[in-house]
Amino acid sequence: MILAIESSCDDSSISITDIKTKKLVYHKKISQELEHSVYGGVVPELASRLHAEALPKILVECKPYFKDLKAIAVTTAPGLNVTLVEGVSMAKALCLSLNIPLIAVNHLKGHIYSLFIEKETHFPLTVLLVSGGHTQVIQVENLEEMQMVATTMDDSFGESFDKVSKMMNLGYPGGPVIERMAKDGDANRYPMPLPLSQSPLIAFSYSGLKNAVRLVCLEAEEKDFPDIAASFQKAAVGHLLQKLKKYFKTNPPEHFAIVGGASANLYLREQIISLLKPFNASLSLAELKYCSDNAAMIGRIAIEMFEKKMFTSLDEVKTEPRTSL
Ligand code: KG4
Ligand code: ZN
Repeated sequence: MILAIESSCDDSSISITDIKTKKLVYHKKISQELEHSVYGGVVPELASRLHAEALPKILVECKPYFKDLKAIAVTTAPGLNVTLVEGVSMAKALCLSLNIPLIAVNHLKGHIYSLFIEKETHFPLTVLLVSGGHTQVIQVENLEEMQMVATTMDDSFGESFDKVSKMMNLGYPGGPVIERMAKDGDANRYPMPLPLSQSPLIAFSYSGLKNAVRLVCLEAEEKDFPDIAASFQKAAVGHLLQKLKKYFKTNPPEHFAIVGGASANLYLREQIISLLKPFNASLSLAELKYCSDNAAMIGRIAIEMFEKKMFTSLDEVKTEPRTSL
């Protein structure tokens, strides 16, 4: 079995996955949403302290599996450095005491493998990764060949929901709150600018849209919030759709997937389904519980890495907060 640790942002999570069956046998996540909510976003130092409390609490429950462990996997990049080191220190200590190898996992690749936790998906895949830190289109050939073909120039998709929620004092994380509020709103009441709509670039940008919402909020009252949320969500998703459409012109999709915390957004899912229809392309989605950060996806990719002996020596393992794929 492989024990995997995830602590790249505000979720402390540990999983245990069976190497032979590739099935998850243990999974726990302690989320810090409540603690960060009062600040309207993640406070790195607080997150680090909370990981230091939560991770050992979960690890104690894993003790019965220790004798069966063949490797320890841990997210080493990208993420907040002060939180990544919490998981990495624990992973190193476990490797030393149990005398087993370490598997260093890239968090973004982990999100892609969330698609494989409860079912088999097949490559090649065109993946839209939408999370709090990233907005990327990734062409995935296999475990070792993944190419980012589009990314954001500033804020990420999920982050823009968090910031809009903060503007209306609706708490953190903003994604689920804004989506819920948008259900009762009129998406056409506030026309929002579609980012980079005149640009030939296949890239994303959310700072202009965020500013447009800020200006609307200055004049708005609480009763207007559902309409603002719906108008913003329509533009935020519309921007993704417009750029994907452009990309599909030269790269028609066959198998498409959406991963990352914001892939839980049902409006986004519906719109992508419509976009894919003319291409007859399949759509893969992770189960809702595995869309946001979790150690199950880290364990699932670690199984594939274990088979290829993709280990990192304890002297060489390091956190890389800003790295991409
Ligand atoms: O993948 P994730 O758990 O953490 C990162 O790796 O960043 O993603 C968290 C992000 C947050 O920004 C959150 O607001 C966003 O995903 N999110 C959503 C929804 N649920 C979570 N964004 C839009 N709609 C949602 N339903
Ligand atoms: Zn994530």
